[in-house]
Amino acid sequence: MVQDNYDQSPHGFWSSNTMFVLAAVGSAVGLGNIWKFPYITGENGGAAFFFVYLICICAIGIPVMMAEIMLGRTGRMSPINSLLKIAREQGLSRKWGLLGWAGVGGGLVILSFYSVIAGWILAYVFRTFSGEFGGVDAATASEAFGDLIGNPWMSGLWFTIFLVATGYFVARGVNRGLELVIRFCMPLLFVLLFVMLIYGIAQGGFGQAFQFMFHLDFNNLGLSWDSLVIAMGHAFFTLSIGMGAIMAYGAYMPPESSIKSAVGVIVVVDTLVAVIAGLAIFSIAYADGLSPGAGLGLLFTTATTAFGNLWGGVVFGGLFFLLVTFAAFTSAISLLEPAIAYFVEKFNSRRAVVATVCVSVAWILGLLSVFSFNLLSNFNIEIGGEPWTIFAFLDHLSQWIILPLGGLFICLLTAWFLPWKTVGSTLEVRSLEGEVWWKIFAGVVAPVAIFAVFALTFF
Ligand code: PFF
Repeated sequence: MVQDNYDQSPHGFWSSNTMFVLAAVGSAVGLGNIWKFPYITGENGGAAFFFVYLICICAIGIPVMMAEIMLGRTGRMSPINSLLKIAREQGLSRKWGLLGWAGVGGGLVILSFYSVIAGWILAYVFRTFSGEFGGVDAATASEAFGDLIGNPWMSGLWFTIFLVATGYFVARGVNRGLELVIRFCMPLLFVLLFVMLIYGIAQGGFGQAFQFMFHLDFNNLGLSWDSLVIAMGHAFFTLSIGMGAIMAYGAYMPPESSIKSAVGVIVVVDTLVAVIAGLAIFSIAYADGLSPGAGLGLLFTTATTAFGNLWGGVVFGGLFFLLVTFAAFTSAISLLEPAIAYFVEKFNSRRAVVATVCVSVAWILGLLSVFSFNLLSNFNIEIGGEPWTIFAFLDHLSQWIILPLGGLFICLLTAWFLPWKTVGSTLEVRSLEGEVWWKIFAGVVAPVAIFAVFALTFF
């Protein structure tokens, strides 16, 4: 067992190791896996993209996640204060605290647009349960999606409901309620993704989907430089790393937990959910004559077509969207935690007060994303000659820049600035060999890879 000052956390602890792993899985598995992964894989050509993404998960994601949990567990406070405390104890610059601030800002930015998508999903829970999609075909399903995002009031309303619910649960503290949601909902979500997959197989789209996702054609990889940064950004996004969410969760880790095995479970489950979602969605897309590159409406169109044409689809489809809402919810909570924990420590105020303020900031920012699909759809921010809507801008800013930069500095800090004794004992890696591997991966491979992707993409 690691000796640490775990009784010093002002926020309490996960009730058990299982609870910590569940919470971290809850944070990692979300819209990134079910909504985003399939559509960006579709837009970026399939297998080659998936392959690069897997390399990013292994070479960058795993070391960054271990480093982040290690820092949280050592500091035992909010990311900002953990970093400041560690810097003070090790005689390092206070500037390391800025890394925590970037995470707080990044978390609010991501939460703002994440809640917009989650709001659409929530709307689909009700629309599906109402029977609206019974017997629907792909064209009608995609029209229905267009109607929702084009309506500022409707999507604004669902977005607001989702965000307020998130704030409410964060205000109550992380353990109550969350455990139940994750313990029951994740397995059920798996099952319903399988139902979608079986529907896709029955419709005859599985062969093409499998080929699209796993068949690497080395003569024609179809990868652009942009695909590289998209794959790397998504590796950060899907694992919830680079902005302190997992660091905050690591601070509440019980002393008997092992970081290595927790990271193993989180990464495997997260990747599995993405792969099943991808296969299911592409199978249906192919069977229905949709392109896998159909963009951000892909999940909505394929899931409604599948369940709309299945026996009991009203119930199963509604349930499916409900479970995706829960998955989004357990991720959204973790996006708020670094900010909430810090302001509670700083002002000694109640979680409810801080949550209200943070949610209000995310709400204002999020409305801009809601409107970028309707009222502000012509308002573009021009970057590198490309016009981006506000939604696209915030999405890219966080995943291409904030999260990877955060990850870069987190790796450098743990590999080169902190004594190996502290790092190794928290990671429970005590051999010289372990130290060498850590320095290679966290100190060289991950930072160089992040830097190289930046350089290739931006210069
Ligand atoms: N990992 C979440 C998903 O895949 O949906 C999104 C996310 C949560 C990103 C928390 C970043 C974060 F800190």
